[in-house]
Amino acid sequence: MERRLLLGITGGIAAYKCPYIIRLFKQNNIEVKVVATSHAMEFVARVTLEALSGQPLYMDMFGPRGDSYEHIELAKWADVMVIAPTTANCAAKFANGIADDLLSALFLTFKKPVLLAPAMNTAMYIDAATTRNLRILRERGVKVIEPDSGPLACGDAGLGRMAEPEQIFERAMLMFADRDALSGKKALVTASATRERIDPVRFISNRSTGKMGYAIAETLAMCGADVTLVTGPSSLVSPADVNMVRVESAQDMYEAVMARAESSDIIIKAAAVADFTPATVSESKIKKTGNGLTLELKRTKDILASLSETKREGQLLIGFAAESDDHFSNAVGKLVKKKLDLIVMNDIRATDAGFGTDTNRVMFVVPGVKGSPPEGWQSKETTDANVFVRATPLLSKYAVADELVKIIIGMI
Ligand SMILES: Cc1cc2nc3c(=O)[nH]c(=O)nc-3n(C[C@H](O)[C@H](O)[C@H](O)COP(=O)(O)O)c2cc1C
Repeated sequence: MERRLLLGITGGIAAYKCPYIIRLFKQNNIEVKVVATSHAMEFVARVTLEALSGQPLYMDMFGPRGDSYEHIELAKWADVMVIAPTTANCAAKFANGIADDLLSALFLTFKKPVLLAPAMNTAMYIDAATTRNLRILRERGVKVIEPDSGPLACGDAGLGRMAEPEQIFERAMLMFADRDALSGKKALVTASATRERIDPVRFISNRSTGKMGYAIAETLAMCGADVTLVTGPSSLVSPADVNMVRVESAQDMYEAVMARAESSDIIIKAAAVADFTPATVSESKIKKTGNGLTLELKRTKDILASLSETKREGQLLIGFAAESDDHFSNAVGKLVKKKLDLIVMNDIRATDAGFGTDTNRVMFVVPGVKGSPPEGWQSKETTDANVFVRATPLLSKYAVADELVKIIIGMI
């Protein structure tokens, strides 16, 4: 069946990347129609867009024919809409239902999956108005692919660079292909760090921000799963269409997860849960008397071990291994011991992957079965087990989530 994409282009410098985005879709047999704002045409030529899409460029609300309802016809025609780049101006219009040109009227009319790729100067991106507009749009179910950090066309450097065309393409493809691949499935995802209280003001925590778990939860929801995200404290925006459960300590997380485990078909443990917690919590603030302080710590409950004990037939249990040494043997040991169906291994010593970064480089490890590995996987022998592995290059955390969810869809 023909798959059809509307590519919206707005007046940001990153519009120069749109011809390449069109090519990526066309090379994958997706029909593309381009709708541009008048300001977009300051940055990219009509002839290029028309030649690459093989379609006329759509810009005018009021065409030569009085009976033309272009915004309605185009909305009916397409399966998915991508707006890349999305300017701060268009994000504001979309969030507030303003429909004063063809693209914004189309946005309001279109009731199928939409992906926005914001791109702008850092100051515009972090402004309270833009933050609010993007949050409103996410809450309405619009998908937003986060901009990257890096050099910007205006000469500044920072957050606001449009996600790479390949990432936009991958995410949109997921919206076409797997919109319903996980419908009827319940997924439980954990994310972020836990906080272990020492006294009323102090706690022990770790560097996990939750970015990886939030991206996974959002991607699973995009594929139709009923997703619950159990998260430690995090400053991230709640993903669209995800049930949020906020917890603080490892014990809270244990209780929240175990209460929902049995009814879940897919459990992904991406949180960095504390292994140790203070043996006692001081009720009043500990004074800085003496030369130091010795804290006695006790072990927290091992959530993954409990999940592996209660794991039921057909339930997928997926863990993360954040190791600094002997990554591979530690990850395989965890895979075997905790009876996991998949472990995602990352090297926390790398500066561009692991905690707090927008990117990650991971290795997926699954138990090896007899015979040769599936395409794209390699077989590896270890003292613990024979496993199949697949390593990714450095990807955005959303792209890693896409890869993981594709594997899950193949497993379930
Ligand atoms: C050289 C140049 C680059 C610009 N780049 C961006 C940008 O990356 N993101 C953005 O939100 N606005 C950018 N602007 C400002 C927009 O073009 C302006 O807000 C315009 O009204 C957006 O129109 P539109 O949203 O209808 O396409 C840029 C303006 C200029 C002159």
